[in-house]
Amino acid sequence: MLEKLLSGEKKLAVIGMGYVGLPIALEFAKDINVVGFDINETLINNLRLGVDTKNESSKTDFINKKIQFTNEETDLKNIGVFIVTVPTPVTNLKSPDLRPLKLASKTIGERLEKNSIIIYESTVYPGCTEEDCLPILMENTELEYLQDFNIAYSPERINPGDKIHTLTNTIKVVSADTPSCLKKVSDLYKHIIKAGVHEAANIKVAEASKIIENTQRDLNIALMNELSIIFDLLNINTNDVIEAASTKWNFLKFYPGLVGGHCIGVDPYYLTYKAETLGYKPEIILAGRKVNDNLSKHIVKRILNHFKNENKTIGKTKILILGVTFKENVSDIRNSKVIEVIHELKNYNIQVEIYDPLVDVTQLSDTYNLSTINSINKNYDAIIAAVKHDEFLSFTNEYFLTISNPKAILIDIKSIYLGFEGMTYWSL
Ligand SMILES: NC(=O)c1ccc[n+]([C@@H]2O[C@H](COP(=O)([O-])OP(=O)(O)OC[C@H]3O[C@@H](n4cnc5c(N)ncnc54)[C@H](O)[C@@H]3O)[C@@H](O)[C@H]2O)c1
Repeated sequence: MLEKLLSGEKKLAVIGMGYVGLPIALEFAKDINVVGFDINETLINNLRLGVDTKNESSKTDFINKKIQFTNEETDLKNIGVFIVTVPTPVTNLKSPDLRPLKLASKTIGERLEKNSIIIYESTVYPGCTEEDCLPILMENTELEYLQDFNIAYSPERINPGDKIHTLTNTIKVVSADTPSCLKKVSDLYKHIIKAGVHEAANIKVAEASKIIENTQRDLNIALMNELSIIFDLLNINTNDVIEAASTKWNFLKFYPGLVGGHCIGVDPYYLTYKAETLGYKPEIILAGRKVNDNLSKHIVKRILNHFKNENKTIGKTKILILGVTFKENVSDIRNSKVIEVIHELKNYNIQVEIYDPLVDVTQLSDTYNLSTINSINKNYDAIIAAVKHDEFLSFTNEYFLTISNPKAILIDIKSIYLGFEGMTYWSL
C-alpha cells in the first residue's frame, strides 16, 4: 500500500482536520497525495489559506505539501487509505457520543474502493471499531469485508502544545484485522513516525491501550487532588509533600490540578460505559472522575473563605484569572474546568477578569459567553493562576503585589509561583 501511495497511484484521506487530523495529514503530505476532509466548511476555507486557527501548525507547515483540503465527499476518490480522526466526546449523561464516528464511517462506506484500508485513530472503548464502525462501513458498501477492504486501529498520542513529545518522535501503537493488513499499516506509519511502531495483539488491545493511558493519568491526578484537599486541612503544602515523598525510588510524581479537555476527563467514561454494558460497574475509575470534577468547587470555596476571613464583601471583590484554556500553551477551551471556576465565582456576583493571550476569543464568547481583557489591570482581590502558559512564568512577586489590593490572595493552581511572599498564597 505504501508504494501505491508514494507512486501516486492511490491517495490517503484524513477524515477530521482537528488537533489530531491536521498534523497527521500534513506529515503524510510531504510525499503522499493527501485529501484532508472535514465537514466544517469554515475550517476547510482557513486551511486552504494555510491558516490553522488552533495555532498548532504554522504557515510554513503548509508549504510544499501534496494536500487538498475539502468538505466535498465527492473528492474522496481513489483513496487507498482512510484515517479517521473525528471527535469522540461524551453526552451530557457521560456516555459515549459516537455520532461523528458513525457519520464518518457512513461517508467512508459510501466512497470505499477495492483494496482500501480504513484506520481509526479516534479514542474509543475496546470493541468500538469492530462492533460499531465496521457494521456501518459494511452497510454502506457493496464491497466484501476482508476480501475487498480491511480495518485497522492506531490510537493517537499527539499532545498539543508539547514541542518535546511530537507526532513523529512518539512510538505509535498499530493494530489491524489481519496480519497482512497489520504489515501494511505498520509500514505506512513507520514512514512518518521516526520512533517506530508497536504492533498490538489485536484491535481491541490497541483501543484499550489508549483508554488506559488516559484513565491512569486521570486517576493519578485524582489521588493527588484528594490528597491536596486533605493536606489543605492539615495546613501543609502538597508540593512540599510530593517533593519529600518522591525521594523514594518507587514513588510516582503526579501533581494535583484541574482535569479538563477532551481526553483525560472524557476517555475514562468510554471505558466505564463499556464495562457497564458487560455487567461490571467500575468503582475506582468513577471515584477518580468525581474527585476531579469537584475540584473547581473546592477552589472557589477556598477563595470565598479567604474573603470572609479578611472581611471582604464578596459581591464587591474583583478576581483576575490567568489562563482559561484546558491546559498550558494551547488555545483549546473544550471542557476547560477553569470555566467552571469562573461561572461559580460569577454566581456570587464577583467581578471576574480573564487574561489569556492564547485562547480563541471567538470560541470563548460563542461557547461560554465570556470575554477576555487585552492587558492586566489593577486592584484585584484574588489572582487565580489557572494555566501554566509560558508567558505567565516570568510574572514576579513584585508584579503581583502591584496589581493587587491589600489582603488579596494568590491562588496558584499549578504551583507556578512556589515561595511567593507578600500576600496570602495558596496552591493545590
Ligand atoms: N486533541 C488531542 O490532544 C488528542 C490526543 C489523542 C487523541 N485524541 C482523540 O482524537 C480524536 C480527534 O480529536 P481532536 O482533538 O482532533 O478533535 P477536533 O474536534 O479538534 O477535530 C475533529 C474534527 O473532525 C471534524 N468532524 C466531525 N465529524 C466529522 C465527520 N463526520 N466527517 C468529517 N469530519 C468530521 C470536526 O469538524 C473537527 O474539525 C478524538 O477521538 C480524541 O479523543 C485527541
